[in-house]
Amino acid sequence: MPRMTLRNILLHPDPRLKKACEPVAEVNAKIRDLANDMLETMYDAPGVGLAGPQVGVLKRIFVIDCAEKDAAPDPMILINPEITWVSEELNTYDEGCLSIPEIYEPVTRPEMVRMSYLDADGKLHEDEFEALHATAVQHELDHLDGILFIDYISKMKREMITNKMKKLKKELARG
Ligand code: NI
Repeated sequence: MPRMTLRNILLHPDPRLKKACEPVAEVNAKIRDLANDMLETMYDAPGVGLAGPQVGVLKRIFVIDCAEKDAAPDPMILINPEITWVSEELNTYDEGCLSIPEIYEPVTRPEMVRMSYLDADGKLHEDEFEALHATAVQHELDHLDGILFIDYISKMKREMITNKMKKLKKELARG
């Protein structure tokens, strides 16, 4: 059983959430610890996905678990992920984000994607993701390029959400 630590989730707006992340140079024990911490932090939140920059680590890594509520957990660790194919068919989901709590907005993305990535052992995979899984991996990959789901909605709505988040962060800082 790996030892895991909950990490602090950065809240929007934060300059670290707007940066393009560096590839992971080597999949080593430190990266595996980070991935396990990220899974633990995601389950604790709770959420279905979490990307490196959301815990202040500007590396190309994210974790997801899109299992149905009563199904067995299905944790996945994706390192240096790259989209290799997208479907022409689109899908719209109400997306949320652990860095923008309690905000949900519809975002339209390809319904299916193929993505290559390294797993926690450094092994190369190429998997096809569909429906909620496809949305999750695209949302998380965006994080690695400094893109948030609110970047797809209207500027007016985005500014309203950002102002709300600024107020929330002030309240949290006051404690
Ligand atoms: Ni997110």
